[in-house]
Amino acid sequence: MTQPPEFDDTFRERLHDLLVWRRDVRRFRTDVLPQGVVETLVDEAILAPSVGYSQPWRFVTVRNPARRTAVYKNFLACNRDALEDYKGEQAKLYASLKLSGLDTAPEHLAVFVDNATNSGHGVGRKTMPETLPYSVVMAVHTLWLAARARDIGVGWVSILDSERVKAILEAPEDWSLVAYLCIGYPEEEHTDPELERYGWQDHDPQSSALLKR
Ligand SMILES: Cc1cc2nc3c(=O)[nH]c(=O)nc-3n(C[C@H](O)[C@H](O)[C@H](O)COP(=O)(O)O)c2cc1C
Repeated sequence: MTQPPEFDDTFRERLHDLLVWRRDVRRFRTDVLPQGVVETLVDEAILAPSVGYSQPWRFVTVRNPARRTAVYKNFLACNRDALEDYKGEQAKLYASLKLSGLDTAPEHLAVFVDNATNSGHGVGRKTMPETLPYSVVMAVHTLWLAARARDIGVGWVSILDSERVKAILEAPEDWSLVAYLCIGYPEEEHTDPELERYGWQDHDPQSSALLKR
């Protein structure tokens, strides 16, 4: 029988570093990633937990230039639309934010939930069906950490029309888009979120996130 590993203080410190240095990346170098690394990241992502062991995640590598351009154009249109929700100084600041690295990231990875999967036979999701897409989010975060551990950055783009992206990628009918990820080597490394650095949103303290009963 394989012995479980021992996670010592050194490992815990490194894990803390990984969590602190994981960032949403929008500024990518254009150099290609090593052959097979996206597949390795997906292998690690699918070690994530899923409701009833449903494993509802489905990944699509998007390498076709026409499809990538179509997704990027959709982002530009959706972002212009989102800008209209803001006024004055906030609109100016919004317009100055960089909210995707779709134009430079060497890899695009779309992550879907398969709403029709029978894996897990429905365990755990009768009362909370939303746990199916939650499971896919767990895989996305696992991939994010696995990437950062290899000095690779991930940026999540949600400023997209999910139905349009599904059509561009010719995804099966029963799938819904959960995340569209840009993946590549980051141009710069930071411990603070870009939106904090550019004055859009401060870090909320633990006191506003943790309720005691
Ligand atoms: C569900 C989700 C959707 C997101 N969508 C976008 C997006 O469309 N564009 C963007 O620039 N960042 C997006 N992000 C990244 C967040 O803005 C980022 O995680 C947050 O500002 C905190 O920064 P950090 O990830 O570097 O800690 C998204 C993150 C999540 C979890």
